[in-house]
Amino acid sequence: MKKVVEVLPDKQILVERSLEIVKDKIQTAINERGQCTLALSGGNTPKPLYEALANEALPLEKIHVFWGDERYVPPNHPDSNQKMAREAWLNKVDFPPTNIHPMPTSSGNPTADAEKHSTELREFFQCGAEFPVFDIILLGMGNDGHTASLFPHTDALSVLDRLITVGSKDGQPRLTFTAPLINNSRCVIFMVAGTDKQPALAQIFSPSGDETSYPARLIQPVSELWWLLDQSAGSQLER
Ligand code: 6PG
Repeated sequence: MKKVVEVLPDKQILVERSLEIVKDKIQTAINERGQCTLALSGGNTPKPLYEALANEALPLEKIHVFWGDERYVPPNHPDSNQKMAREAWLNKVDFPPTNIHPMPTSSGNPTADAEKHSTELREFFQCGAEFPVFDIILLGMGNDGHTASLFPHTDALSVLDRLITVGSKDGQPRLTFTAPLINNSRCVIFMVAGTDKQPALAQIFSPSGDETSYPARLIQPVSELWWLLDQSAGSQLER
């Protein structure tokens, strides 16, 4: 595994650097395989990246967008990761609607919707019983060390035989990529900003630690792992 850790001077430069890397990875995927499969993160940190992507001339017909996790709310709910990404990027450009693959959250049964999305992924990737290989998975990290919707001390952390499972934050269900699905990606990119993330980052970058307390430690992709941090998050890291 190639692991890159970059500490950028501030959040704006973090976003600019993230844009540069994501554009490069998109082009590489298209050059090599004719398309790019990109899974978006939710939360606040990536929103300016999505807004920047909206100003880029990209071969949208060759890009397929997914989400690494989703709050179990309707797509028009203020907490929806889908809503955030559509408003920041997807609705501003001419994405083919069939290239956008949101997680289903409308049946009222998170487990059933998790299985439904797993089936949708298997059909798209034509991967049979194997795990799909995403070209790029964007992730954030909470100040508790969670990533996607893999929260500390939850059952989702130990789901190793499925693509999508049901996470839980304060009892609220969420759909999430499992750790093995994330780790099967060609390139995982974390974007982390803010001093409140320092303690969790110290735990995650520690040579030893508890993965159930700091789930981002579970993310050890077979190919590439990028940690893009702003100074306020990453300045104290022992690298
Ligand atoms: C979500 C995200 C989540 C997020 C972290 C960090 O659905 O909220 O997938 O994992 O990346 O909570 O969020 P911030 O970027 O807002 O700090």
